[in-house]
Order: sequence, then C-alpha cells, then structure tokens
Amino acid sequence: MPADLVPATEEAIERAARLVTEGELVAFPTETVYGLGGDATSEAAVARIFAAKGRPRFNPLIVHVPELAEAEALARFDERALIAARRFWPGPLSLVLPRRPESGLALLASAGLDTVALRAPAHAVAQALLRATGRPIAAPSANRSGRVSPTTAAHVASELGDRVALILDAGPCSVGVESAVLDLTGAAPLLLRPGGVTLEQLSEIFGPIETAAAGEDAPRAPGRLASHYAPERPLRLDAVDARPGEALLAFGPEAPPGFAEVLFLSRSGDLAEAAANLFLMLRHLDRPEFKGIAVMAVPESGLGRAINDRLRRAAAPRP
Ligand code: TXA
Ligand code: MG
Repeated sequence: MPADLVPATEEAIERAARLVTEGELVAFPTETVYGLGGDATSEAAVARIFAAKGRPRFNPLIVHVPELAEAEALARFDERALIAARRFWPGPLSLVLPRRPESGLALLASAGLDTVALRAPAHAVAQALLRATGRPIAAPSANRSGRVSPTTAAHVASELGDRVALILDAGPCSVGVESAVLDLTGAAPLLLRPGGVTLEQLSEIFGPIETAAAGEDAPRAPGRLASHYAPERPLRLDAVDARPGEALLAFGPEAPPGFAEVLFLSRSGDLAEAAANLFLMLRHLDRPEFKGIAVMAVPESGLGRAINDRLRRAAAPRP
C-alpha cells in the first residue's frame, strides 16, 4: 500500500510519533536529507529499516536524538565529543562514540560494532518528532541502498513509498548533503564521511583531521562502499566539453555548449547552493532520454568536499 504523504503539521507529527512507538517506519525531513526513521530501541523496527532499504546489515545506522542530554545516555562522551556536540548540535554532524552497554539501543543499529553514530538534527520537524516520540530514532537516508538520497518528500515516495507507513513533508532540505560522520573512538579524530559540517569547521576545533579514504576504511567505516548515491545514468566527472546525448550539471556562470540539457548547481559558485541542489538535480537529469550525466569540476573545499565525495561515489564502478 502506498504511504501517506502529508504536510508535517503538529497533528501529523503526533501520528508519526505514535507509529514509531508502535514499531512502524516513518520518513521525516532533516536539514540534510529525508530520513527513514524507526524506534532505535527496537530490534524489530531497526530490522525493518534494513529490509525496506535493502541495506547490508554490516552497515550501521545513525541514531537521532533531540540534544546532548539524551545522547549522553546512549554513548560515552569524552572532552572532544562534548566540545564537538556543544559547537555543532543541533546540526549536520554525526559523532561515532563508544556505545553505553546500558543504552537500550538495538544491537542491529550498530551492526555488531560497540560504537554508535549519534546526531541531533536541526530541522524543526525532526526535533518535534524526536521530542514527541520520546525515544531515539534510527534513521538512514530514505532511499534504497546505493541510490541518490532524497531531499524532497516526493523523492522519498518514489524510492520507498510502499515500504513506509507515513511520509512527513516539509519541503526541500536546506543543506542537501548528509551529515559529516566524525569518529571519535580512536586516539585522533577521523572524518569517515565529509558532510554538512565541513572539514575546515572541524579543524578549527581539532586541528588537522585525518580523513578516511573510500573503500579502504573497513571496519571503522563499514558503510563507506565505493559505489553509492548512484543515478541510473552513468556519471562523468570534471567535464569540460559535451559528448553526444549527455546532460550537464554545471558549476559557475557558464556551461560549455552542446549538452542536451544544462542545470546549474550554482551560477555564482556558491557551494551551499550547489549542495542544496545536488541530489535534486541529479534526480532531475536521471532520465532515459540522456545517455549520461556530465558534471563540471567543483572546488575541493568547504561543502565542495561533501559534494565531490558524493559525485565520486555516484561515478564509481557499480557492483
Ligand atoms: O544526514 C544524515 O546523516 C542522514 C539524515 C537522515 O540524518 N542520515 C544518513 O544515514 O545519511 P545513512 O545511514 O545513509 O549514513 C550513515 C553513515 C554510513 O556511512 C554509516 O556507515 C556510518 O554513517 N555509520 C553509522 N554508524 C557508524 C558506526 N558506529 N561506525 C562507523 N560508521 C558509522
Ligand atoms: Mg545514505
């Protein structure tokens, strides 16, 4: 049965909270991307998330909480973690920390690791849902495993419409790329996934930060599969000229001639605008009339790191 897609009114949020406590799955907006949420304390609910996404069970989920107080009951925060949470929460940063044995979290959420990724999202609807539910919500991006993350409720419906009880619609996500995932379980902080909080912002408080390379980082980052975020059409990076039948994702004021269709991530070269447009535009260009999607180079700084990370994975050889 197709899911209900409803505006995220107070009443709808209450209904979503009830569904979560009953073990059902609901999709909800965060400032980064839409999440597929379930009760993080229920093994059955978390198992449903993996099944709905077709996600391999070795890839752990992010557990969402309203704020630091709730997070501290779930994981051990050292001084570094406290500083990061106080500086960047609520916001697009997930912290990988040692899970408390008494956390009550489903073991499946951590995919067998003794760590857990925690995040307090900034979106008002996500906050309201977490508070109304009164328990932590495990939520991966609300797409089928390996595919482009959804930044609108309609995209959730097209990915998972028949596998979720309710979709809360609050319009497009403002950040548009997922949270940064920072592992604080080792001696030095390790950036497992670049995201909405940038490497530069993290370096301001931690100094130089190690980053995990795609595919090489297991088992600390089991989810970092090389191919991910993939549209159906092949993706070609650093495009400077057109090939027959290609559509173009342009960055900057001008696009080379000859493409079948051109969308601008940002004409002014604004990386925040480009991030917010990235998944929307990839989806829009992923149409059978095009032979492929070409993308112009995006600077490797600030949010550009997260954009390039997603683009590289989208262009990687498919399994
Ligand atoms: O912005 C976001 O983070 C969105 C919204 C919905 O919050 N969520 C999201 O979840 O992107 P997901 O499941 O698509 O990505 C979670 C990432 C994966 O790369 C996963 O491997 C990593 O976080 N992760 C989760 N728990 C981990 C852990 N205990 N250790 C290492 N990596 C972990
Ligand atoms: Mg995802």
